[in-house]
Amino acid sequence: MKVVGINTSPREVSNCKIALEKALEAAEAEGAEIQLIDSNKLNISACQGDNYCKAHEGKCAIDDDMTQIYQAIEEADGIIFSIPVYFFDINAQMKLIIDRLYSYFQSSYMEKFASKKVSFILSQGTPDPEAFKAGLEIQFNAFKFLGFQTVDLVVLTDNNVPGAINDKEDQLAQAAEVGKNIL
Ligand SMILES: Cc1cc2nc3c(=O)[nH]c(=O)nc-3n(C[C@H](O)[C@H](O)[C@H](O)COP(=O)(O)O)c2cc1C
Repeated sequence: MKVVGINTSPREVSNCKIALEKALEAAEAEGAEIQLIDSNKLNISACQGDNYCKAHEGKCAIDDDMTQIYQAIEEADGIIFSIPVYFFDINAQMKLIIDRLYSYFQSSYMEKFASKKVSFILSQGTPDPEAFKAGLEIQFNAFKFLGFQTVDLVVLTDNNVPGAINDKEDQLAQAAEVGKNIL
């Protein structure tokens, strides 16, 4: 059982990353092999919409660090994304990844994804967890559309300050729950 965590926050002291580490720690405690990727440190270009992937069995024409994300997803049984809310939605780093996953759409990969689980951990400043939920669910559903099992979408709130989550036992416990549920 392999679980990969993909953190899309660019912050050094990132609430998302702290939550993701908690989730991965919980998965590891249950026996999972874990991996954490900071996508902001990777060179990931935007999808060019060239449909090269549609004629090449789901392979993208762009040769960049997205290959690391593709490989991690193909090898994992569970994938947890940790994502900051920027302007009422997922951040741009996460959108880059989602758009590049279009290469898998209508490919034979989609059958293999039926056994893989995906969860989202989001962190935002706004206290109301429902404030942006509708839009965030749309992005989460991109993974259902690609054939994955979608499990948890957790919104952690009041986290404007870097590392604010460290004082929030309830949020850390919620993150750990995501790590258990992904197995
Ligand atoms: C560019 C930018 C836009 C943001 N937009 C929102 C927003 O629309 N709603 C909100 O609740 N918080 C917003 N925030 C706050 C972040 O979502 C919050 O600080 C989050 O916990 C950051 O996660 P991180 O510490 O892992 O980077 C924004 C922060 C930045 C830097």
